Amino acid sequence: MDLSGRLAVVTGCTSGIGLETMRVLALRGAYVVGTGRTLEKAQAACRGIRGVTTPVALELGEPESVLACAEAIRSLDTPIDILVCNAGMRAWDYRAVNGIEAQFAVNHLGHFLLVNRLLDRLFVAWQGRIVVVSSRTAYRDVPPGGIDFGGLDDPAAFAGGHAYGQSKLANALFSLELARRLKGTRITSNALHPGVIDTEIDRGVAAPLQAAFGLYTALFGKNVQQGAATSCHVATSPELGAVSGEFFEDCNPVRIRGDNYLRDTSLAERLWEFSVEQLRPWLVEHRRPDWDEIGRRLRPARG
Ligand SMILES: NC(=O)c1ccc[n+]([C@@H]2O[C@H](COP(=O)([O-])OP(=O)(O)OC[C@H]3O[C@@H](n4cnc5c(N)ncnc54)[C@H](OP(=O)(O)O)[C@@H]3O)[C@@H](O)[C@H]2O)c1
Repeated sequence: MDLSGRLAVVTGCTSGIGLETMRVLALRGAYVVGTGRTLEKAQAACRGIRGVTTPVALELGEPESVLACAEAIRSLDTPIDILVCNAGMRAWDYRAVNGIEAQFAVNHLGHFLLVNRLLDRLFVAWQGRIVVVSSRTAYRDVPPGGIDFGGLDDPAAFAGGHAYGQSKLANALFSLELARRLKGTRITSNALHPGVIDTEIDRGVAAPLQAAFGLYTALFGKNVQQGAATSCHVATSPELGAVSGEFFEDCNPVRIRGDNYLRDTSLAERLWEFSVEQLRPWLVEHRRPDWDEIGRRLRPARG
């Protein structure tokens, strides 16, 4: 596949699935902006791969850093063809970022703001794609109701693994609601589970648990190349140009049977409103291009 002439942004390019996603997209000719929590880390990651890349600093827990990152990307004055919201963290204790549970703030709210600040650059791409890296914990390991909005600022409400799952459900529902709001445009939005891969995601966990995760992934998981395959496929496959609002696993859109919130449109809408409330001072309003108006202007005059 030849991706030359396309601009891709990959968040969290310093390790694991993000680094591999950036490597593959750049190898195929895309110009990739790779983000890391510090410029130095992003630079080191970009230096290590073949192709044209630009490192940019992005700390998703700090709105001012998200804005600076978006400005740096906007200063390239180029349409964005691919935006892979990949960066993520897993925590085992309650920590707040701007008063909100850290995983929800970083994994979801940071990307919500970044997408908002870059959306107009995706509108002007030939076919913009937003790819949100979620997880199967989004349907396996969430609190009752899916997202505990009331408990996000309450350490007493923190429930270990549920908190990560709820942030990953937020990733999936954000993508679903984005797809609904972008219907009729050329931008698609899809979420995915990459697989279970031995990356740095469990860096906060005690060494014995990390070893157990390493063993589990060696036996039943994917390697990092396989883990990035679904992101790369959803970001680039010509067959998916009009596919939006789906949840992918193993490079295929899936429907998960049983009780889960993956396609809960009212929860997705509530999440959107909640996110806007949290981020209001930093968000910009978008005027969707009026294709009817553009079409009227292009249509030859009658008579
Ligand atoms: N590995 C799995 O089994 C698995 C399964 C399902 C879903 N996922 C998802 O896959 C995505 C990639 O994770 P991975 O497994 O590749 O883990 P990883 O190796 O830990 O990579 C995570 C990336 O996100 C960045 N990041 C972490 N916190 C950040 C913050 N506050 N602001 C900006 N960037 C931040 C990291 O940067 P630093 O290096 O600076 O920390 C790193 O580049 C995540 O969204 C994760 O939830 C992974």
